[in-house]
Order: sequence, then C-alpha cells, then structure tokens
Amino acid sequence: MKDPTLRVLIPADKLQARIKELGQQISRDYPQGRLHMIGILKGAVFFMTDLARAMNIDVSIDFMGISTYGKGKTTSGEVRVTKDLDASLEGDDVLVVEDIVDSGITLNYLLHVLEQRRPRSIRIVALLDKPERRLRPVHVTYVGFQIPDEFVVGYGLDYGERYRNLDDICVMGGEAAG
Ligand code: IMP
Ligand code: MG
Repeated sequence: MKDPTLRVLIPADKLQARIKELGQQISRDYPQGRLHMIGILKGAVFFMTDLARAMNIDVSIDFMGISTYGKGKTTSGEVRVTKDLDASLEGDDVLVVEDIVDSGITLNYLLHVLEQRRPRSIRIVALLDKPERRLRPVHVTYVGFQIPDEFVVGYGLDYGERYRNLDDICVMGGEAAG
C-alpha cells in the first residue's frame, strides 16, 4: 500500500526484532512460567499476537474493549469499557498489552478497574510510548519504542479505522517520505 501522506517511522523488521526481544525478556521475568495477557482492542491485536508467539512460557489471552471517544487524534478523557473480559483475574499474573501510551488516561483508568479484580500481579507492556504527552501517571514496565509527539498509524494503530494493516509504523501527514 503506497500512500504519499505516510512516512515510515519504524519499519517492520525493527518492530519484529524488538518484539522478539520483549518476548524473551518478559518470559525471563515470569519464571513460574504462566502469564495471562490482556490485549486492548483493537489497536493492540497485531502486537499481542506477535508478542505472544515470541514468548516461551505458558500464556493465556483475553481482550478488553475500551473507548475514549471517536475518530480524532486526541483523547477526550472519558473512558468506557465496551467489551469486558471473559474470565476472572483472581490470582493471575496479568500483563496488559497496549499499542501506545499517549496521555495515559486509558491505562490509568484501566489499571484501577483491573486491580479491583485481585490479580496476583499486574504489569503493562506498550509497543509505543509518547512520554511528552503524559497527563496521567502510568507505570509501563515494558516499552517497545519511545517516539516523539507525532500521530502514528500502522501495525494496529488507526486513523478513523484506516491503516491498521500496515506492516510498518508510519507518521501521518509526512509529505517528506524517507
Ligand atoms: P491515551 O489514553 O491518551 O494514553 O491514549 C491511548 C489510546 O489512544 C491508544 O490506545 C490509541 O488507541 C490512541 N492513540 C494515541 N496516540 C495515537 C497515535 O499516535 N496513533 C493512533 N492512535 C493513538
Ligand atoms: Mg487503543
């Protein structure tokens, strides 16, 4: 898919190499060998499936839908659960899998919700982090890449539901294609 309005920020091979590293690191950090992964729909789906396959421990997966309003490039601050988990988290070691941490509003809210369900432990992995944009504190244990304050699409990330199926992470509005 060639699109002159997109500029590649992180190419697919770098993404995949970093995800393999994360998978190995996370596997080492859970020597008991069991982990319950929760993917945040829909953006984290691509990352989640690759990360799960990069791990060599016993994982189970579930998904949660969170909505922070519409189609634009910013978060409103209002968070809503649109699809809840299938299973209880009680006693589980939980890893929340997110595509990107921006303001931190989504994950800050979600952690409060999930902590009430008494997991044994809970950590976050995010493929991308835009630390400059943080409005709410969130401790993200595992980060794939820190990126500057630019709106990105691809590999799960969308703009108005488009571009999720790109292999690369791309910046929108970059006419100066690299
Ligand atoms: P936060 O609540 O502001 O941290 O926003 C997190 C959510 O906003 C992510 O899960 C994405 O769905 C969306 N988001 C934030 N930044 C971007 C971006 O650059 N591209 C696409 N979606 C984004
Ligand atoms: Mg999201």
